[in-house]
Amino acid sequence: MSERQLRIFDSPEDLARAAAGLFAALAADAIARRGRFAVALAGGSTPKRLYEMLADGPYVANIDWPHMEIFWNDERAVPPDHPESNYKMAWDALLSRVPVDRARVHRMPGEATDADQAALDYQRRIARVFGVDLDGPPPIFDLILLGIGEDGHTASLFPYTAAIEETCRWVVANRVAQKNTHRLTMTLPILNRAAQVVFLVTGEGKASVVSEILEGPPDALRLPSQAVQPGNGQLHWFLDRSAASRLQARNA
Ligand code: 6PG
Repeated sequence: MSERQLRIFDSPEDLARAAAGLFAALAADAIARRGRFAVALAGGSTPKRLYEMLADGPYVANIDWPHMEIFWNDERAVPPDHPESNYKMAWDALLSRVPVDRARVHRMPGEATDADQAALDYQRRIARVFGVDLDGPPPIFDLILLGIGEDGHTASLFPYTAAIEETCRWVVANRVAQKNTHRLTMTLPILNRAAQVVFLVTGEGKASVVSEILEGPPDALRLPSQAVQPGNGQLHWFLDRSAASRLQARNA
């Protein structure tokens, strides 16, 4: 069972600053130990401030950017220049502003017409970078960043979708009927192998689902975020006060 660490911050800015400090520390440790830092970025809007901070101030000069292997944990069915692209958000906020090795920026091709093949190709790319067997157990990411939706989804594991129950593949194309689309997404087998998983959650709108996820009964199909329990890793929940406002334990 993973250890779970819950931290509550006064503001989204304080949360982003703490996440940037953790990101930098984990990167330095991984690069010192193994010569590289393998990270899967989150999409959506919450991580944007973190990404902007990493490209600025004390972090940009103290992170060994060329030794990073950068992946995404999911992508929408849009091209990389689309306003809704998770790749575009991270590229604009961070990757275009720091000296990453572009050959080590592994964009998830959400726009691919054959989504199943694109998911398999992405898994193949992960296996190649980590030097592991494509059909073996998932590799261990040093860090996976995640957000949650108000419906309890994380990555593109939306409630009652098939990808939640995937037990072998590391990356799949997931039909998301709620959005009348499909998404490429990492699955629980690879998310739950990570050394460090950090959920970044802000805003009053997420308070209700946060309390259900963290304090309610287990129901992974309805609340896929609950199923992220890295077996040998550290699970961090970074919440601002608004997102944490319905937690009973906090208000005890
Ligand atoms: C996506 C993300 C998704 C996101 C949540 C939260 O592609 O949308 O991967 O899982 O993290 O929807 O999004 P916000 O940060 O915008 O609230």
